[in-house]
Amino acid sequence: MSRNELASLFEAALTAQQAAYAPYSGFPVGAAIRTGSGRIFVGCNVENASFPLAVCAETGAISAMIAAGERSIAEMLVIGIGEALVTPCGACRQRIREFATPETPIHIASPRGVRASFAQSALLPHSFGPDNLPANRRDQGPLS
Ligand code: THU
Repeated sequence: MSRNELASLFEAALTAQQAAYAPYSGFPVGAAIRTGSGRIFVGCNVENASFPLAVCAETGAISAMIAAGERSIAEMLVIGIGEALVTPCGACRQRIREFATPETPIHIASPRGVRASFAQSALLPHSFGPDNLPANRRDQGPLS
């Protein structure tokens, strides 16, 4: 991926982070996916007065991608705040894994820029995925 492509993914995630609804944690997160076809989809965390209902930024970005008819994550970028790297939570790692390859880069950023990059398989090693299921359960055919 070119420097410009990474910059556009970063800007998209940053704009989404600025729209995050995180009044309870005060921890806004933005995520951006570049798909195999080159389109970008974003998500932000959406919290709720009923705290456990919070939805992560990564999950929102995946939902936007799927709703648009796309199914492959070529690259992903997540922006959080604070000292520690804001890597995706365990549930989101599994959701990312569904639509990524083991090599798919996942960039972790702060609002100031990218801090680290991981291959998907480094974040979720020895993972369970569609290939673990019988063929009739994993292939629902093309969109119709
Ligand atoms: N959160 C995300 O959106 N993505 C992550 O990778 C980590 C955590 C959100 C969930 C919650 O709204 C807030 O950050 C604090 O956990």
